[in-house]
Amino acid sequence: MCGIIGAVAQRNVVPILLEGLRRLEYRGYDSAGLVVINKGLQRVRSTGRVAELAAQIGRQKTHGHLGIAHTRWATHGGPTEDNAHPHVSTNSIAVVHNGIIENHEALRTRLKSLGYDFASETDTEVIVHLIHFYYQASRDLLVAVRAAVAELQGAYAIGVVSAEAPHQLIAARRGSPLLIGVGIEENFIASDVSALLPVTQRVIYLEDGDIADIGLLGIRIFDAEGRPVERGEHVSELSADMAELGNYRHFMQKEIHEQPRAIADTLLAGVTTHSVLPGIFGPQAEDVLGKINGVRILACGTSFHAAKVAEYWIESLAGLPCRAEVASEYRYRNSVADPDTLILTLSQSGETRDTIDALIQAKKLGHKHSLAICNVPESALVRASELKFLTRAGPEIGVASTKAFTTQLVALFLLALVLGRLHGRVSVAQEKSWLDQLRELPGLVGQALALEPEISAWAERFADKHHALFLGRGAHYPIALEGALKLKEISYIHAEAYPAGELKHGPLALVDKDMPVVAVAPNDTLLEKLKSNLQEVRARGGELYVFADQDSHFSEQDGLHLLRLPSHAGPLSPIVHTVPLQLLAYHAALCKGTDVDKPRNLAKSVTVE
Ligand code: AGP
Repeated sequence: MCGIIGAVAQRNVVPILLEGLRRLEYRGYDSAGLVVINKGLQRVRSTGRVAELAAQIGRQKTHGHLGIAHTRWATHGGPTEDNAHPHVSTNSIAVVHNGIIENHEALRTRLKSLGYDFASETDTEVIVHLIHFYYQASRDLLVAVRAAVAELQGAYAIGVVSAEAPHQLIAARRGSPLLIGVGIEENFIASDVSALLPVTQRVIYLEDGDIADIGLLGIRIFDAEGRPVERGEHVSELSADMAELGNYRHFMQKEIHEQPRAIADTLLAGVTTHSVLPGIFGPQAEDVLGKINGVRILACGTSFHAAKVAEYWIESLAGLPCRAEVASEYRYRNSVADPDTLILTLSQSGETRDTIDALIQAKKLGHKHSLAICNVPESALVRASELKFLTRAGPEIGVASTKAFTTQLVALFLLALVLGRLHGRVSVAQEKSWLDQLRELPGLVGQALALEPEISAWAERFADKHHALFLGRGAHYPIALEGALKLKEISYIHAEAYPAGELKHGPLALVDKDMPVVAVAPNDTLLEKLKSNLQEVRARGGELYVFADQDSHFSEQDGLHLLRLPSHAGPLSPIVHTVPLQLLAYHAALCKGTDVDKPRNLAKSVTVE
């Protein structure tokens, strides 16, 4: 949560900072602000979106060659202008911060006793006063930042500038992401590479505890012990236009439509005609995956739903016990750990606090092996895991996760195949046949996308509803969960998902003519059972919206609306059935006029507990 960017250059950095903020806005959008050094500190802040900040800056004609900027997701203190970053101390030092300072109350009391006045309710403000305090003694910004961060408990990524050092940008991180962008006689910092793509693709990822002293011509990095260190430079594979909207109305719509490409790219990662190379999960993968005796998956939100699908795949294809658990629950539980059970973490961002801390807890409990499936290279989760697989979804900007989910599912299916082969459950011929089916997947997803006009018509009927039920069975139950989550997070229609067989054990009481019931109804072995469950709904006057396969027997009748997806895709069917539910949520949100890409109260990366 919260996005930060900074720049030191020979040109005016304000347009760079604003464009960066626009690209980081998915991380939080309660308020935005910027400081540049130009004969002292010049600060502009505004509540609301980056566009409002940009308009304000346009009126004031702010410019400068060194600056930091921030887009906020409020934690401590409401989304007011006073609480917006950057925070300043005695009009000479400014700080932007992403993270949470856990000991801020004690620091605030101490700093107040030293005479500092606080202008905000944020935890961040203690950082800037603390830096100012140490700066008084040293007159050296780097030394002051080092002394200040040594006192911070919690997570931080910070950018710091001083009016007395017009070419010096200091960056530090622990627990929250921060990278340096390397330019020609200009350098940058940002929470995420996508913010810097218009100016550079050359990036250096800072490690936990690092502090960097960044100037026009040079970058010096020091580790947690204060020793100078070299951190490798990477060239990002992403391009600036990957985070552009193009002809789409919203990033969510664009990302839904990118799924055939994203799935194909993810498959290209390491699939030959006949087999999946275990090495796609890391150099030691074959050895590690061959000896594990089970899998425990830890994840949150949409990623947790992917984990639930994987339970079905890993148990049925590889014959290994597999359990998915919500990371925020697992991290505080004394679970019984089997050291040989693989800890698999799933995350689009790789910076979800609950998932990272769940991994730390699992290691503490004695689990020996870990694998992260993630969409962001060099993210904290990836770096903390023994094995890794990077999905190739490309940047996902819409807060509602779509292409990251379906590419996670592809990665999980590949993992199930590798485990199946290494544990003697999947033959060479079977593996080839699965891979042939996987290669069909982008085409099948494309056919599901072609249903958009019909789904949009359905969505109009949802717009005035307050509640909806989603039903599925087997591996499609998690898809129903995902459909309900998508609908509630972007359209604000309350939605719940149930395994269809569970309906009669309680939720059936909710069914009446005002409760639309969405059924994920693939042509699998459970279809006849599901049909009986749907009859229970119809008999109570419920209105059914059924997504069936081309090859199943269903007829449209009173109270039952039907849309047909391609013919049944076997175990890969959950991936195909996800698409219409994403479109239904998207079009319901359009009808309701909500802010699809930035739903209220949410942020893309949840880096707090
Ligand atoms: C999905 O639409 C969500 N906005 C959210 O549930 C998300 O999946 C969750 O916060 C986990 O994020 P991660 O995949 O980046 O860890």
